[in-house]
Amino acid sequence: MDTFSSSLNFQIGHQETRDLAIAINTDRFLLRSLVPSDTSEQFLSWIADPEVMSPLNMPARHFTVGQLQAYITGFDNQTRYLVGMFGKRDETLFGILSMDINTTHSFGKMSFLIGHPDYKRIGAFRETAAGLISHMFEVRGLEKIIVHVNAGNEPSMRALEALGFTNEGTLRSHVRSFIGEGRHDQHHYGLLKGELRLPAQLSSRDPSRSGS
Ligand SMILES: CC(C)(COP(=O)(O)OP(=O)(O)OC[C@H]1O[C@@H](n2cnc3c(N)ncnc32)[C@H](O)[C@@H]1OP(=O)(O)O)[C@@H](O)C(=O)NCCC(=O)NCCS
Repeated sequence: MDTFSSSLNFQIGHQETRDLAIAINTDRFLLRSLVPSDTSEQFLSWIADPEVMSPLNMPARHFTVGQLQAYITGFDNQTRYLVGMFGKRDETLFGILSMDINTTHSFGKMSFLIGHPDYKRIGAFRETAAGLISHMFEVRGLEKIIVHVNAGNEPSMRALEALGFTNEGTLRSHVRSFIGEGRHDQHHYGLLKGELRLPAQLSSRDPSRSGS
């Protein structure tokens, strides 16, 4: 096990096959590539909610079960990943991370969402994103992770900076707004290999264990 993993008790499951699906245990959570059977009413409700989707800069969509399953199938676990964040005890899906890999330049573009309110502000993003990013650096050999964040999305900016990301510049009027009219500036955040700050002291609170 590498130093990144061992310091956090990550057990990185890397399969030496063409299937590079993610399976990572962090201290409190399980990260794994989503499969069509992960489709649920709750997952569909996140996608249909403009307030949930707008920070991701995606329009809300009223997907059917079949459409969401087809969407999940579109991620090939080689250059495009859609990874679920799960509680360990009851395997509650509480958030998602996506990673699009540019193999030519060895970087990944990440996006993320904690959909379940009970899992916010307990360090779940910090712990799961650190797990996925470590895997991308150590197992997939990436050299940089980037994130585009809408200007004004302070929680995401603070969460990325806590992991060691740098705001490398602002992309002016870069994307269309899906709430209201006009366009958004976006901040381009970057993290080079070696800059990742692992969570030093992880919260021991895990809603799936407390029964709340
Ligand atoms: C941004 C987001 C992922 C943070 O998830 P989280 O699990 O609640 O974050 P964590 O508990 O790991 O917090 C890590 C750090 O981020 C910062 N942070 C997180 N939420 C914050 C908030 N609401 N306000 C200010 N800072 C915040 C803090 O510095 C925090 O560290 P601290 O708790 O020690 O102070 C979550 O709020 C979310 O899903 N937002 C909507 C989706 C989104 O904006 N995605 C961006 C797409 S690019």
